[in-house]
Amino acid sequence: MTIRPRLTVIGTGYLGATHAICMAVMGFEVLGVDVDASKIEKLSAGAVPFFEPGLPELLTKALESGRLRFSTDFQEAAAFGDVHFICVGTPQAAGSEAADLRYVDSAVTTLARHLTRRALVVGKSTVPVGTAARLAGLLRELAPAGDAVELAWNPEFLREGFAVDDTMKPDRMVFGVTSDWAEQQLRTAFEPVLAQGVPVKVTDLQTAELVKVAANSFLATKISYINAMAEICEATGADVHDLAEALAYDERIGGRFLRPGLGFGGGCLPKDIRAFAHRAEELGVGQAVGFLREIDGINRRRRARTVDLVVELCGGDVAGKRIAALGAAFKPNSDDIRDAPALDVAATLHRMGADVVVYDPAAMDNARRVHPELCYATNALDAARDADVVVLLTEWNEFREIEPSAMAAVVRRAKIVDGRHALVPASWRAAGWEYRALGRPIVP
Ligand code: UGA
Repeated sequence: MTIRPRLTVIGTGYLGATHAICMAVMGFEVLGVDVDASKIEKLSAGAVPFFEPGLPELLTKALESGRLRFSTDFQEAAAFGDVHFICVGTPQAAGSEAADLRYVDSAVTTLARHLTRRALVVGKSTVPVGTAARLAGLLRELAPAGDAVELAWNPEFLREGFAVDDTMKPDRMVFGVTSDWAEQQLRTAFEPVLAQGVPVKVTDLQTAELVKVAANSFLATKISYINAMAEICEATGADVHDLAEALAYDERIGGRFLRPGLGFGGGCLPKDIRAFAHRAEELGVGQAVGFLREIDGINRRRRARTVDLVVELCGGDVAGKRIAALGAAFKPNSDDIRDAPALDVAATLHRMGADVVVYDPAAMDNARRVHPELCYATNALDAARDADVVVLLTEWNEFREIEPSAMAAVVRRAKIVDGRHALVPASWRAAGWEYRALGRPIVP
């Protein structure tokens, strides 16, 4: 029987907390480590500090099993773990398109100084290609155990809202390694995942780093492609919704990530395509992915177009008009408001003088903290009270279930912009609403 390695997970944000909890549930002894004592305190007490369906129940289960603990102590981590997963954030650097690597560097440096025996350090964070080779050098230089400490790269592909499923049964695993020993360690650490038949691609460090940014860039490209088609539809009276459906029947194209609308946001896609374009320029091959700037531009234009539609429905000026904004999170089933298209639109309308009332089923606290200037309602109907225009910005199921006639009864004017193509236009029109959606024809 193979002896299961003991795992540490450095960084207990979205990725790290999910990884630590799921690995403990799958039977490993896990120590979650973070420099933020308040996060460690919350997690130790059984509270997940962000919204993710299914995760709180698994945290309780993992803590009860006795296999999961949390700490702020890197020395303890080094003594405990055989495999150390680096799961810290790599946000966009202030005033630049580059990724900010200070958290990755500091996690690896701090851990390295305590590594006195053979160990594998595994990067999971999204980084510019070439980072892993640099970190491997840092480890060799700083770890007392020297060459006995190796680095591997194992990019993470989980989606918010599906984090548990994506971790327990991912589409694929990628192992970037420089030795058979490192590959074997990873195969043992992911044995319960691989046992389900999940395909694994073993490759070098730089290819593993690239898989992640290449995947996110492809997904962003697909979304912006259909949104570019929406711009064409708007100029021709064609319907991008029908167009996307017809394209999706071609199995080579497929319908996933081909949903037109307000575009992509969140803590990953926008910053990853910018960091990738920036890194390619540093490498002298910027031209190869120059199109990513266009992808970003198309995406930003969707937000501006949504604002324009609201202005149009207000008769050319939103000043003094009441706008109900349904949604704040960057996507449903999440309370994440990082680069959220929804809040971007709401805040822009507010800056233009509108009286904006926001409602989101999960992201209200986060939205209030970052946008205290906006008004907040406790449910969708309250948000819509006396509204001149309702604008749907995040496609929560709760909004799909709104009864159009019930909402019509509380608004001042029954005008709705469906920024996510989430509603059935005929039902809303039948209840007397003027229904508009990006890239869909105006029906008189
Ligand atoms: C994304 C990737 O999908 C994950 O595979 C990856 O691991 C993750 O980034 C990451 O790098 O950590 P996530 O940011 O959770 O995951 O969200 P997505 O489900 O990819 O959605 C991103 C944005 O695209 C959302 O704002 C969503 O509303 C938008 N979107 C998605 C569309 O506008 N149209 C679509 O058809 C699909």
